[in-house]
Parts: sequence; structure tokens; C-alpha cells
Amino acid sequence: MQALVVERLTGDVSGVALADVAEPGRGAGEVKVRVAAASLNFPDLLMTRGEYQFKPEVPFTSGLEFAGEVLEADPGSGFAPGDRVMGGNKTGAFAEIACVPAGKLSVMPTGMDFAAAAAMGAAYATAFTGLVELGGLQEGQWMLVHGASGGVGLAACDLARALGARVIATTGSPAKAARIAALACPEAVIVAEGRFREEVARLTGGALADIVFDPVGGDVFDESTRCVAFGGKLVVVGFTSGRIAEVSTNIPLIKGFSIVGLRAGEYARRFPERGAAITRAITHLAEAGAIFPAIDRILPLSRWREGFDAMVRRELVGKVVFVPGA
Ligand SMILES: NC(=O)c1ccc[n+]([C@@H]2O[C@H](COP(=O)([O-])OP(=O)(O)OC[C@H]3O[C@@H](n4cnc5c(N)ncnc54)[C@H](OP(=O)(O)O)[C@@H]3O)[C@@H](O)[C@H]2O)c1
Repeated sequence: MQALVVERLTGDVSGVALADVAEPGRGAGEVKVRVAAASLNFPDLLMTRGEYQFKPEVPFTSGLEFAGEVLEADPGSGFAPGDRVMGGNKTGAFAEIACVPAGKLSVMPTGMDFAAAAAMGAAYATAFTGLVELGGLQEGQWMLVHGASGGVGLAACDLARALGARVIATTGSPAKAARIAALACPEAVIVAEGRFREEVARLTGGALADIVFDPVGGDVFDESTRCVAFGGKLVVVGFTSGRIAEVSTNIPLIKGFSIVGLRAGEYARRFPERGAAITRAITHLAEAGAIFPAIDRILPLSRWREGFDAMVRRELVGKVVFVPGA
């Protein structure tokens, strides 16, 4: 079968290649799925460089999430051939066939197509865990969402709006502002460069943000410590800027806010009941038409390089979806 294999860890994608590999064997408790669509996430890129917290041994098949149709499953696993499912297990999604533990899959929302389902899972679970579970999002609160053109950032904007919050989206790429506004319908899109606290204060009538959702880090995190309301939360999501920020602990003390670290996958593993509740809540919102993942482009897996390059060059607004076998 066709699969995207990371053969060597390099600083670029020169160690990655489309290859013809043997179909994975289905282990005990695993479900075998024909992958119809798989989406690219920033951690996929980091894993090609050995820079993600999870470091699989090379060679490995890339791709942390997919949607597809069940081919084989154990009786009693909750799945049967023909079921339309979504999920993933950190690697193995960029292939025609994937085998993953049953607990890593969920049934796709009714009415959703494979591309949207592949694009939704990790991004919306991350957004929901950060904003609702850890952030305690309430209707009418102000959210400041950074990296809003990205898969996770756009999902956070979309979800927060659907839950009745007021969203200020930020981007480091002014040319993307109009597309973010059209897709996520926030109250405002601002450019997160230099000092942006005054803009946040003006937009919120001086209240500042109840939750800052930050996948960018670096300078954006530093300035964000000036944008959180008293009693608010600054949720650390990632470091796409390439710099892990440091903070003097007197700042959250004086300003009365909390800094919260988010690990959405680990949260669901440690608290499986909450993980299942998050999946149910997202599915419910999707089936009600309240949220919808934004897709920048759908590519055959043979054009994987185009998708990876676009992510590296920060060209995307929304997700890249690959179609294996095409
Ligand atoms: N904590 C968790 O549980 C969890 C789960 C999933 C993902 N993540 C993390 O969330 C982050 C976003 O993932 P994603 O899949 O949404 O990635 P993505 O689709 O590539 O989006 C990342 C966004 O960050 C901004 N960005 C990229 N490079 C940047 C740079 N050098 N300086 C400043 N901004 C930059 C870009 O927005 P603009 O061009 O608009 O500025 C880009 O759209 C990653 O760090 C990922 O590891 C965390």
C-alpha cells in the first residue's frame, strides 16, 4: 500500500518519502481502517525533525489523524465493518490502511464527509480541552485566540463563537486576516506583532481577555501576559514561533491570572470519561451545524510535499487534507 514514511530525521522533509509498504497487521484490540482522508497537524511536521515530545523510531509512517471506513474489528469492540470512523494514534495516518486501538476511534458525526472529519478531530479536541475544560469558557466572555489561521487556532475561534464567547482572533500574517474573518466570524482580527495589548483593551472596553489561547508562544506569549483579565487564564498550547517563553512569577500574581498548560491527548488518556465527553460534545455541535472545520486544501497523498511546504511557509488558513491512494 501507499504510505508516507519518515525514513530519517532531518531539519527539513528530505528524510520523508512516499513508499510502497506492507499493510499493517491488526493487533489485539485494534481496528483496521481504510483511510479515506487524513489531515496534517503541526506535530506531524515536528515529528519529521524529531522535535515533538513523542519521538517514534524511524522508519515510521507519518500522520496522526484520519477518517475512513472500518474493514475489520473485534466483536464487542464497538465497531463493525463499514462504520465511518475518525481518530488516530500519533503515527500511521498517511497511508491507505491504518490499524489503531478501538479506544482511539470514534464514529464520525452524521452527515459529515471524510475530509471534514479528518480535519476536525485533533484541532477541535485541543480547542475544547483548552477553552472549556481548562479555561472554563462561559458565554459572553472574551477570548483572545492566537495563530488563528492554523488548524487549532481556527477551531478555537469557531468553537468559542459557537459556545457564545466573544472572539478576538490574531495572526502574524496580515494578508490572512480577511480569510480568517470570513471563516471564523470573530468580532475582530488583529495582527499580533509588537504591542497589541492596547488593541485588546480597546476592543474589550478595557475588560481584557478572560481566556488567551496561545499556540504561538515567544513574543506573542510575552505580550499576552498583559492581555489577560484579572481571574483569567492564559492557556499554553504550543510554540509555533519557535521560542518557548519564560515568565516572572510576579506577573500572574500581580495581575491575578493563571497560566495553564494544555496537553489535549494526555488529558483524554488520563481522564477517559472527560475525553469521551469532549468527543460527544464536539460531535453534537458538528451534527447541529454549529461548528465546521475549515479546510485550506485537499491534496492526493502523492502531493504531500505541497501540504508540508505550505505549513512551513505559513501559507495556510485552515487544514491540509491528504487523500491516500490518489
Ligand atoms: N497542547 C496541545 O494539546 C496541542 C494539540 C495539538 C496541537 N498543538 C500545537 O498547536 C500548535 C498549532 O498547531 P496547528 O496544527 O494548528 O498548526 P498550523 O495549522 O501550522 O497553525 C500554526 C499557526 O501558528 C502561526 N505560526 C506558524 N509559524 C509561526 C511563526 N514562526 N511565528 C509566529 N506564528 C507562527 C501561523 O499563524 P499566522 O501565520 O496566522 O500567524 C500558523 O497558522 C502547534 O505548536 C502544535 O504542536 C498543541
